Amino acid sequence: MSVMRAAGACVVVDAAPGAPPRLLHYGADLGPDVDVAAVADALERPVPISSFDVPVRAGLLPVEADGWLGRPGLTGHRHGRQLLPRLAVESVQLEGESRLSIDSVDEDAGVGVRSDVVLEPAGVLRLRHTVTNTADDPLEITVVDASIPFPAITAELLDFAGRWSRERTPVRGPLGVGTRLREIRRGRTGHDAPLLMVVGTTGFGFRRGEVWGVHVEWSGDQFYAAERPAEGAGGGAGLLRGGELLRPGEIKLAPGEAYSTPWVLFTWSDRGLDGASARIHRYVRSRPSHPRRPRPVVLNTWEAVYFDHDLGRLRRLAETAASIGVERFVLDDGWFRHRRDDTAGLGDWFVDEDVWPDGLHPLFDTVRGLGMEVGLWVEPEMVNLDSDLARTHPDWILGPPERRPAEWRHQQVLDVANPAVSGYIFDRLDTLVTEYGIDFLKWDHNRDLSEAVSPATGVAASHRQTAAAYALLDRLRAAHPGLEIESCSSGGARVDLGILARTDRVWASDTVDAVERQPIQRWTSMLVPPELIGSHVGPPVAHTTGRAVELGFRCLTALIAHAGIEWDVTTASEAELARLAAWIELYRELRPLLHSGQVVRADDEPDGVLVHGVAADDGSAAVHSVVRLITAGESTPGAVRLPGLDDARTYRVRVRGGFFRPGRGRPPAWWAAAESEGGFAVTGAILGRVGLQLPVLLPGQGFLLHTTAEQPRDVSGD
Ligand code: DGJ
Repeated sequence: MSVMRAAGACVVVDAAPGAPPRLLHYGADLGPDVDVAAVADALERPVPISSFDVPVRAGLLPVEADGWLGRPGLTGHRHGRQLLPRLAVESVQLEGESRLSIDSVDEDAGVGVRSDVVLEPAGVLRLRHTVTNTADDPLEITVVDASIPFPAITAELLDFAGRWSRERTPVRGPLGVGTRLREIRRGRTGHDAPLLMVVGTTGFGFRRGEVWGVHVEWSGDQFYAAERPAEGAGGGAGLLRGGELLRPGEIKLAPGEAYSTPWVLFTWSDRGLDGASARIHRYVRSRPSHPRRPRPVVLNTWEAVYFDHDLGRLRRLAETAASIGVERFVLDDGWFRHRRDDTAGLGDWFVDEDVWPDGLHPLFDTVRGLGMEVGLWVEPEMVNLDSDLARTHPDWILGPPERRPAEWRHQQVLDVANPAVSGYIFDRLDTLVTEYGIDFLKWDHNRDLSEAVSPATGVAASHRQTAAAYALLDRLRAAHPGLEIESCSSGGARVDLGILARTDRVWASDTVDAVERQPIQRWTSMLVPPELIGSHVGPPVAHTTGRAVELGFRCLTALIAHAGIEWDVTTASEAELARLAAWIELYRELRPLLHSGQVVRADDEPDGVLVHGVAADDGSAAVHSVVRLITAGESTPGAVRLPGLDDARTYRVRVRGGFFRPGRGRPPAWWAAAESEGGFAVTGAILGRVGLQLPVLLPGQGFLLHTTAEQPRDVSGD
């Protein structure tokens, strides 16, 4: 029997020897002296008519032997004979106060399972199972998942869908009896990734309701499910589940071999989605891989020049970038052999001798001389058939031996799990990083995997492809400890905590239309803290949508993430450059707060308005961006509340950045004072509970409020 507690959350596990391990509770802290037997008794179901004769108890890996007739947690077979495990706990190790390893076995079935249950200091729960074949003949594993029970008070579900340039669109609905199953069979996380599947109480919002969420820390095939059978799930009403999606024949265990699932993360909060995502952010920020240096302002060349790589033009771009304060210059696609457009060259990771006769040194020396870091785009797992690599090594390409999978952006996928392939990629990247002293790689992945089987054996390869890509990233980072890497995948199709354990930011979307970006960033930040979300100021007219967006709004949108520019700023006017320089200065001033505080969002915003705030953990300061995406339904839309502040403290409020200047009509009474240098003083209670009247904003307009506490927090307890 085990109880772990952290940050107001608690996990209760029944791991009594001889019975299947069970996770009884993940949710509110039940106090210091939890009686696990009392929890188990409280949750034990009655035996209804027309049912098993004993109460159903869903185990940590729910299976039929428990009386669980929903989707099984562990399935497989030996030569077609079905694996029907009944696991019994053999031993339990508690490491420290927050990590539990439970070993269970079924000797008859010939399997052993180690279940790792970790309650992180942030209060997120992470689960992983390792299944070992303990018998003398091969065992094929077809499903192993991780799940937690959710209680009957849950009534609604939220997860995410999307497409290229419209990632992380929320999907909300009732949570009825049955299963909401989301499968990703794309060999990458996907533009339509569920991201975080959340179940919660009726009407849960950012600041209200009790919620449970699941995220799979994996970048290959995967699934998420919320399953609510008529007979419940042991003590819970249903199970929230996630895991790797395995293809037929993909995981065959020889005697003694083992398969480990990816880590699956669960979060809980009784303070709504903000509480649930704050736990995840805290966990992510605690990981050793999390970047510690201030997030530099980036200029990425993609939408500035596309494939038009011309030294003179790029130098002018770098000089202009440096003159306004850019800190990192990233040379995007187009620099390597044969890459004059997207039909050729992938795989040939040598600097193109025609375009760059002296290599990249002339450009990168300029960039460094201007005081900026150097970044380079690569897409290591991919290959164009029109490349030296594909011509020399046609057997390095994933797919059935007899034919090629369908092309996607004229490209195929390399079999990275083949050591010769990963060795070649590593050598090329290692050489480039060393030769040019590269600080940052933008690591792209521009297609879904289809018919992704090993060319040698025809065996499904998504699992080993993902593991091999991770190993490659790990090896490169170990060889170049200072190197930072961005996870890009035709925009935001590889956004997950598996890839983010070995990369330093994600490219959230290929759309830099700030109006489109606002919701993408809002929802991406449910999982990913803002300092890991790349966001760029694009050109005046967005290339992906054709929409003209004011510079102020583009700057405001990029400011609240990891900011950058993706625009040919050599075409910007003096006035625009001056505004960009001032914006960069403000970003540099605010980034310590923006990249460490708690993300807060407002419920019940006026139609078309989004409030995104970041509040310091100690309540001493906050920034709130308030933006309008569509026209208002009313002539004056009312007040917005600014969450995240201490009710009892007085704050000085200032409008910062000049992102919006009121036009016709008269702004609300507070506006002029907030625009003055000293701002105005008001309590957190008024800001958070009464709110401030919105000025009349047009679609694509917004402003930034900066609040700083006038006095320290009262901790006397009086
Ligand atoms: C897709 C990325 O999302 C873009 O930002 C850009 O890097 C292109 N690939 C380059 O081919």
